[in-house]
Amino acid sequence: MNAMPSPSSLVLALLEAMEEPGLIIEGQRTTAANAAARQLLGDQIVGNDVRLAIRHPVALEAILARRSATIGVTGIGGVDREWELSVRSLDRQLLLVRLTDKSALRAAEKMRVDFVANASHELRTPLATIVGYAETLAEDGDLDPEMRRRFGNAIHGEARRMLRIVEDLMSLSRIEADRFTHPSERVSLQEIVRIACENGRHLAETRGCIIRLDVQDNLPEVAGDFAQLLQLTDNLVANAVRYGCGPKASEVVLSTRADGSMALLSVRDFGEGIPATHIPRLTERFYRVDAARSRDSGGTGLGLAIVKHIVERHRGRLEIRSRPGEGTEVRVWLPFA
Ligand SMILES: Nc1ncnc2c1ncn2[C@@H]1O[C@H](COP(=O)(O)OP(=O)(O)OP(=O)(O)O)[C@@H](O)[C@H]1O
Ligand SMILES: [Mg+2]
Repeated sequence: MNAMPSPSSLVLALLEAMEEPGLIIEGQRTTAANAAARQLLGDQIVGNDVRLAIRHPVALEAILARRSATIGVTGIGGVDREWELSVRSLDRQLLLVRLTDKSALRAAEKMRVDFVANASHELRTPLATIVGYAETLAEDGDLDPEMRRRFGNAIHGEARRMLRIVEDLMSLSRIEADRFTHPSERVSLQEIVRIACENGRHLAETRGCIIRLDVQDNLPEVAGDFAQLLQLTDNLVANAVRYGCGPKASEVVLSTRADGSMALLSVRDFGEGIPATHIPRLTERFYRVDAARSRDSGGTGLGLAIVKHIVERHRGRLEIRSRPGEGTEVRVWLPFA
């Protein structure tokens, strides 16, 4: 092995302190790589020809020509991963190559684009129905009163649906806007679950179902936003009743207790449950397992997205557990005040 003129210990320390993958190149050789780079590209890159680490032709060309450059590169560490590769010279001999992961940024961008498309679609569907019925009402003077009433009702129903979507979207953006202000009220979860139980009673009765409370006495208060925690619990209870109550499941259990340093709120039903493949996506905006069924029962697909954002604002944790045929339990942990 020929001796490697090593970068100074300060350069190496800086390289190691970087979170993103970084390489020091001298001539055609990779003389050092930090932990992130070794993990991404393999330990064998250190001390070897730079072509072993970087295969992208444009990036290689810049490195070998010792030219500063910033290049978009895909496929390192996974086919879909996107990186920004930057080449900078540190002195007359050493080059620093840095890789910045752009995948998260791209994913966020995609989510935003998808969200606008989904929201437009969700609003367009009821709007198209309204336009159709309103046109008939305006143009057909001979329509009999019964038909007029039916069309009027349909328009009313669809308009209310649009209103619900818009209200949920506004609620979601308010919660997101408050994301960095930690809620400061002291909230009693016992009180929250009692009110949520009252709020859900009517819906439960129409499904032949009861909501059972299981509340630990003397549970300390949590640091929270009362209105948001009630909204969260109302949403979970409504889901449990709507999707979890049926002929074979006539109970929803709403419970709260201490779990270590956190308060645990749980909403459990004994309905059909949710197939595992859907669970990770339930908190996405407008995601529904069975869109037709959810729409029939008035759902907009925003409820669990709202729940997730409220939990995040409270620095809490959310877990959805479900077994098809056995039911669903949603658990929320919240820090005590
Ligand atoms: N307890 C549950 N049991 C079975 N499926 C559920 C349960 N809770 C939620 N889901 C499924 O998850 C989907 C998303 O729920 P979410 O609360 O986000 O929206 P929604 O209930 O359809 O509409 P919204 O809550 O906005 O009125 C539901 O459409 C339903 O398919
Ligand atoms: Mg819901």
